[in-house]
Amino acid sequence: MKEDFLKYQAQTTPHPLALEISHAKGSYIYSIQGKKYLDFVAGVSACSLGHCHPRVVNAVKEQLDSYLHVMVYGEYAQGPAVEYTKLLAHHLPEKLNKTYLTNSGTEAIEGALKLARRATGRTELIAAKNAYHGNTMGSLSLMDYEERVKPFRPLIGDISFIKFNLGEDLKRITHKTAAVILETIQGGAGFIVPENNYLEKVKARCVEVGALLILDEIQPGFGRTGKLFGFQYFQVVPDILVIGKGMGGGLPIGAFTASEEVMDLLMDNPKLGHITTFGGNAVIAAAALATLQEITQSDLMAESLEKEKLFRELLVHPLLNKIRGKGLMLALITPSEEIATEIILKCQDRGLILFWLLFEKKAVRITPPLTISMEEIKEGCGIIIDVLNEIK
Ligand SMILES: Cc1ncc(COP(=O)(O)O)c(C=O)c1O
Repeated sequence: MKEDFLKYQAQTTPHPLALEISHAKGSYIYSIQGKKYLDFVAGVSACSLGHCHPRVVNAVKEQLDSYLHVMVYGEYAQGPAVEYTKLLAHHLPEKLNKTYLTNSGTEAIEGALKLARRATGRTELIAAKNAYHGNTMGSLSLMDYEERVKPFRPLIGDISFIKFNLGEDLKRITHKTAAVILETIQGGAGFIVPENNYLEKVKARCVEVGALLILDEIQPGFGRTGKLFGFQYFQVVPDILVIGKGMGGGLPIGAFTASEEVMDLLMDNPKLGHITTFGGNAVIAAAALATLQEITQSDLMAESLEKEKLFRELLVHPLLNKIRGKGLMLALITPSEEIATEIILKCQDRGLILFWLLFEKKAVRITPPLTISMEEIKEGCGIIIDVLNEIK
């Protein structure tokens, strides 16, 4: 399979890990060679309930017996999407009450950017340095990583960058700004948490100048940080919330949520302000609904803080400079890129899946399923410490 994977499937790096997957269940992934891997990455925060969670699988199977796809987004009332958006509104602050369902995180970002320009009549968008919001043209335009964006220029215009957590930069948000877009916790940059009331200050500045605040919760969302959404740790409600990844319990989905007043602008001038064929697909929405029900009806959110504590207790080693992040969104910061890579590759050899972060090369990603057990955490951390002890 590996040969055909490399030959026929488009590759994005010269040396993909190329594990040949047989099946996955709970916190484990199994290769076709019969090797078992404990998964500390969860498909990069996507498999919030682990692999093939029975509640998600049953919801999908049930929906498969009724209908799959019947119409483009927004024309017909389809139970799973309606129930999902209603339940989400119930769990969000009152103002965030209308949701547009998309196929991916990056499409949700595109929708949010369009909505912000439409709602304010302004064009300028401000993003943070080292941010990652996705890889379609609009989302890519929010990335100030020259090496990665240069070949794709010209990107969309009127975008500027501020430094995350730097209060001084907030004066760059002005009456010309349509929206400021931030990850609530910066992911690719190294799991950087807002400090010193940063988000509150950004929001206050946005209110002062009439700009919208868009928060990207695609990684921290859905219980990963111990609350349903990361912004709930702060005294801030975004004007537009963007979600994805863990939302679908392992299936592809994203969404952006705003007030009815703002969201309804997509109906008019022009109408069909955002179009998608498969957004809100019934099978995927059924999986998202089961995932949200499970996360909000179980103790998983509270437990993720207990699990964070255990990780922090067990992962103490001279080669670990610090552990950044919150809940089950943790980044081990090592002394060098080489050491981070050695840890990731050696752990994989021993049956533990870890991964890199996009920009912070000295980091090792730990974003396990929320359903991981304390025993599994001990097992995986034991492997990491053994590998660290062998590094010269
Ligand atoms: C913070 C953040 N925003 C947006 C995206 C894009 O989501 P997707 O890959 O579903 O398009 C990602 C994906 O890694 C992300 O981490």
